[in-house]
Amino acid sequence: MSGLSNKRIILGITGGIAAYKGAEIVRRLQDQGAEVRVVMTAAATEFIRPLTLQALSGYQVHTDLLDAEAEAAMGHIELARWADLLLIAPATANFISTMVHGGADSLLSAVYLATSAKIAVAPAMNQAMWSHTASQQNIQALKGRETIIIEPDTGIQACGDIGPGRLQQPEIIVDQLKAIFESGLLAGKKVVITAGPTREAIDPVRYISNHSSGKMGYALAAALTEAGAKVVLISGPVLLDSPAGCELISVVSADAMLNASVAAVKDANIFISAAAVADYRAVDVADQKIKKQADNLSLELKKNPDIVSTIATDNPQLFVVGFAAETENIETFARDKLVRKKLHAIIANDVSRQDIGFNADDNEVSWIDAQSCKHLGKKSKSQLARDIVKLIAANYDG
Ligand code: C5P
Repeated sequence: MSGLSNKRIILGITGGIAAYKGAEIVRRLQDQGAEVRVVMTAAATEFIRPLTLQALSGYQVHTDLLDAEAEAAMGHIELARWADLLLIAPATANFISTMVHGGADSLLSAVYLATSAKIAVAPAMNQAMWSHTASQQNIQALKGRETIIIEPDTGIQACGDIGPGRLQQPEIIVDQLKAIFESGLLAGKKVVITAGPTREAIDPVRYISNHSSGKMGYALAAALTEAGAKVVLISGPVLLDSPAGCELISVVSADAMLNASVAAVKDANIFISAAAVADYRAVDVADQKIKKQADNLSLELKKNPDIVSTIATDNPQLFVVGFAAETENIETFARDKLVRKKLHAIIANDVSRQDIGFNADDNEVSWIDAQSCKHLGKKSKSQLARDIVKLIAANYDG
């Protein structure tokens, strides 16, 4: 598995002579497993043709904020939500200034304003422009917004000057991006997370289950690993690949999920219950396939154990996070579960909406703890997972 595996990266190319190096950056990002979409400013298209970047990235290059056709295909807000990381390389003095001041006169600057992805900027300009107080103050302003600045290289410039301001070498840019995703917020911590549905057998061929895809739990497991945690992912049956670096324990029923959780949390620091555990199971599981006979068939069900509340009650040292899928009175019902199940935090989502939640790639949730309720806006599950990991790291006290 490569260092930028499955990362969605927008490469924003602005109009400097180093724009041609965008082609090599696309290739190197792809070599590391990233999926790359390219956005160019109008000036950048004077230095390198969009067709070159389209051929390399395999996707249409986005250039125009006011192109109705392009916006209908994948508009600026969709692009902004899609990305895990926005890399501006090369970033001209002018574009950096636009970022600082929040201008939105181009597709790229609009995407910058609309995204909650990580932002990396690789400046490239004449050495005198780079050293100018205005440029340096702009760089400081971006650093203050948690922007990663990939410092320019020093050497002979296209204009003949010698000094700092050359676009950093593509392999160094890519190495620095890899480091961004290995943030170390939870380094040394063991996290156990449940994900996906459970299946409760009725007979050898039938079961009770639900629509959970496991996507949110798997995205969280990937984000936790990225943050340096040792992750045990206890998963019900899903159609997803295990995130790189996690220990995967596959289970089917709620009982099996409980047993695996009890064993895994013994030396853990954090337990996250993202699984959609079936609330009930059959009292008797038939040994043979139940035959179709009477018009009505009754199935007696009994309650499954509540995994998260059992784990929280028996392991007071653990930091425990649950999920609440609600269709109404979301905060009130979620807060009730927070208290009743002895959780430190609960992530509430509205499962009545079609565009988010079960099976969707996007989600929109609220983080609720004893003191606060923070609404995390609609974004991809992998971006949300990173936001949730940051909140866990900020609230976990151990
Ligand atoms: O009570 P409800 O199912 O809405 O609570 C949701 C939270 O409880 C989720 O974190 C879910 O993983 C967890 N849960 C559990 N065991 C159950 C039912 C729910 O761990 N039997």
